Amino acid sequence: MRCAGTLRIALCVTLWLAAVPLAGAQTHEEMVALGQQVYATYCVGCHGADGDGEGPGAAMLIVKPRDFTSGIFKFRSTPNGALPTDADLLRIVTDGINRTAMPNFRLVPEVERRAVVVYVKTFFPKWEERGAGAPLFLPAEPAFLGSPESIVRGAELYEMLDCGRCHGAGGQGDGPSATTLVPDSWGNPQHPFNFTQGALKGGAAPVDVYRTFMTGLNGTAMPSYGDIFADPDGEAIREGDAWNLVSYILSLRTQEDSAR
Ligand code: HEC
Ligand code: HEC
Repeated sequence: MRCAGTLRIALCVTLWLAAVPLAGAQTHEEMVALGQQVYATYCVGCHGADGDGEGPGAAMLIVKPRDFTSGIFKFRSTPNGALPTDADLLRIVTDGINRTAMPNFRLVPEVERRAVVVYVKTFFPKWEERGAGAPLFLPAEPAFLGSPESIVRGAELYEMLDCGRCHGAGGQGDGPSATTLVPDSWGNPQHPFNFTQGALKGGAAPVDVYRTFMTGLNGTAMPSYGDIFADPDGEAIREGDAWNLVSYILSLRTQEDSAR
């Protein structure tokens, strides 16, 4: 484009502005195009150009970057086996994943984070057809969270539901099954979380603990307990028990984690 003369320059600037899609991306196509740029800037080094988790940085990492082509996602508010919602993906992209190389992208403008979410979904072509699962309703934290009674009841549940089989009687990730777990869905070794360590990978707040055991972590041995808590029978499982279990898990923390 040749620009000369005042009018021409004005026209050129207008055309140039129109060619920069960053600011006002709106349509699906525009979001995909913007997302592709964002992905190439920030994500490709780990997750790979094809979204298969085989970026040049992957070989150096112990916890491997996600292969987006598998359609299997750990950190979701949706039922076991379902795809995550856009909000789930945006949360992870924004906050990152503690204890892994997955960085947070809080400083990247929101429209770019939303666009990269749209783009990441294109690596799994069945996404549109299958859609995300219905998200779990996440209630507000109850007042009894963390009370001594709630912790005692949570410890009973931890034993009854046999969380210790993997996470260990004291929650240190050293249960009898911990060493016998088969590799995860992506062929990597998996280790039950050590609850004494503080912030979970998927978030540090009580609601993150709640979400994790209600929906499970797809692709790993971490099961979903949503069905058990959905319908309290008043005896084995009582009203509020999911939060009692959260109280107990959080009481095991011996280190505060400043990761977020
Ligand atoms: C330095 C390496 C690195 C970079 C850069 C990176 N990631 Fe990741 N990402 C990871 C690792 C490692 C994991 C897997 C953590 C796990 O399995 O627990 C991950 C996991 C994720 C997940 C969660 C998948 C799930 O199972 O729930 C999403 C979503 C994600 N990354 C998106 C992105 C996007 C989008 C970008 C760029 C804006 C990006 N990542 C940049 C390393 C990286
Ligand atoms: C069969 C083994 C197994 C059982 C039983 C199990 N877990 Fe897990 N859990 C895992 C594994 C493996 C991970 C780590 C997965 C990862 O980080 O990829 C995990 C991770 C977690 C996390 C941390 C998630 C994060 O974001 O870092 C929480 C919280 C959790 N489990 C709670 C529980 C509770 C509560 C129970 C019992 C109601 C339970 N688990 C039972 C295997 C198990």
